[in-house]
Amino acid sequence: MKFLFAPIVVLALLSWPCAGREPKGAPKAEALYHSLAMTPPMGWNSWNVFHGNIDEEKIRGIADALVASGMRDAGYEYLVLDDGWMASHRDSVGTLVADPAKFPSGMKALADYIHSKGLKFGIYQDRGHSTCMKLPGSFQHEQQDMDLFAQWGVDYLKLDSCYAEINGRLSTADYAVYRDCIIKTGRPMILSLANYTDPSWAWGGGQIGHLWRTSYDIGPSMGSVYYCADTTAGDIVIHPAFNGLWQFAGPGRWNDPDMLEVGNLKSDRENRTHFALWCILAAPLMAGNDLRSMTASVRDVFTAAEVIKIDQDPRGVQGCKVYDDGDHEVYHKPLSDGATAVLLLNKGAKDADLTVSWDQIGLKGPQKVRDLWQRKDLGIYTNQFTATALPQHDHRLLKIGTPGRPPLPLPSAVAPAKYMVTSQGKTYLSGLYYVWRSGPAAPRYNSNFEGQPIVIGGTPYQRGFGFKGRGLAMFKLNGKANHFTAVIGLDAACQSDDSCRFKVRNLDPIGPTSLLYDSGKMTRDTAPKTVDVDVSGVDCLILECESKKALANWAEVYVVVD
Ligand code: GLA
Repeated sequence: MKFLFAPIVVLALLSWPCAGREPKGAPKAEALYHSLAMTPPMGWNSWNVFHGNIDEEKIRGIADALVASGMRDAGYEYLVLDDGWMASHRDSVGTLVADPAKFPSGMKALADYIHSKGLKFGIYQDRGHSTCMKLPGSFQHEQQDMDLFAQWGVDYLKLDSCYAEINGRLSTADYAVYRDCIIKTGRPMILSLANYTDPSWAWGGGQIGHLWRTSYDIGPSMGSVYYCADTTAGDIVIHPAFNGLWQFAGPGRWNDPDMLEVGNLKSDRENRTHFALWCILAAPLMAGNDLRSMTASVRDVFTAAEVIKIDQDPRGVQGCKVYDDGDHEVYHKPLSDGATAVLLLNKGAKDADLTVSWDQIGLKGPQKVRDLWQRKDLGIYTNQFTATALPQHDHRLLKIGTPGRPPLPLPSAVAPAKYMVTSQGKTYLSGLYYVWRSGPAAPRYNSNFEGQPIVIGGTPYQRGFGFKGRGLAMFKLNGKANHFTAVIGLDAACQSDDSCRFKVRNLDPIGPTSLLYDSGKMTRDTAPKTVDVDVSGVDCLILECESKKALANWAEVYVVVD
């Protein structure tokens, strides 16, 4: 015993420093990673203005302009190179290389230059085998690429999803690989999930990265700006009961309605309105214009300190709509100091007076009102404030209330039992709000798409969903359920040439990995089918109708928790 014991002690003592370092360092790196974006990230990204036409001279010029314009000092710290920076092939040992014609001095030199300006360096990659521009992606090079980025001094990674549907991993697992690889490098890097249009908020994107896209790519028009804003603040991608995605955002986890088009829009009015909308939504503020040639008025939009302060408020509440009639909107963002930020927005073609009343924003009696663009107190108002004659695309951004009071309560969030499977036994999905949808129209609950009763193969059903044409809807099973069942078929009102493929998917809207069930092509004459799928461990389940215009019905759609 004596002889055996001694070497064990020696071995244990020898290995102790290493063994001791691992558990101590790892949680520290993890804690650091999760504390990186306590307010929405701010910076500049090359895509909106340059697309793939980037080179080191331009980017150095942008770094200089970030400093000279005062934007760095206003908080824009990340300079992010989007797609198009790399050579078309990895080198002989599989290392990514910068395009030698565009970046002859290499990425390390560029990163050093950016850092020397007091800025942070961000880069784009893709989790598929190729980027969206068909340059080498990171699939099967995950740790190698993260190590290289750490070596270059990368502080921010925008990780795109082109071609990732054929990786054989669900988005959650795939993105988690990168999170773990980044943490392993020991270098703090923000992870921006560019899973555009896919519902990262629903599957806990905030535990994996720091921000996630909610929209398709933004473009330089107010139509596009409003569409992107409404993916985050409206019901384009989530059930209307949620009033937007605000309840999924907060310090360290942000909805990203895409990068800014400020400076690329038609007028200063449009630039200001776009910026104010992003600020009330606590959106990441990534400029996307050519900073080297912007006008003084565009610079003034980017550096408006009181407006930025709304975006960067440490309470981290995403503002939400308290009024929306299609043309006119009122938003409210309760701040950390006891006051609230209010945005009055006229999208409509006619000039309009817009009012916010105190009962919409949780206030009573006389309140101080300040205009944040004019940096001017407008006076004390009782019960309401009206902005008069706002032209189309104009707005007022106000701070209302008295700083120093206890923070105003948040609007009420949707309770988990209303959108997640929470109990044993049967849960009808038609009794839950969907957490994401895609396609031209939302599904109808408990009727066919035209509001008539659900009838499949002559049998009427009280519960289920009616779709029309292409549509996907996601429900949160929360990993709890074991079985999924439904009756599917085309509605009797369909034309004889209408058809639909009904699919059930695990988490991801496209690709072979997520497919759990495929009905094949069904027409009005196909006999109804009963779907029976094992959904053990599935967090988010998607019902999909692949169809041009058919009315497709899902009846008695439920899951069972054993
Ligand atoms: C996708 C992203 C864009 C941009 C391009 C680059 O479209 O959504 O933001 O990164 O890829 O190819």
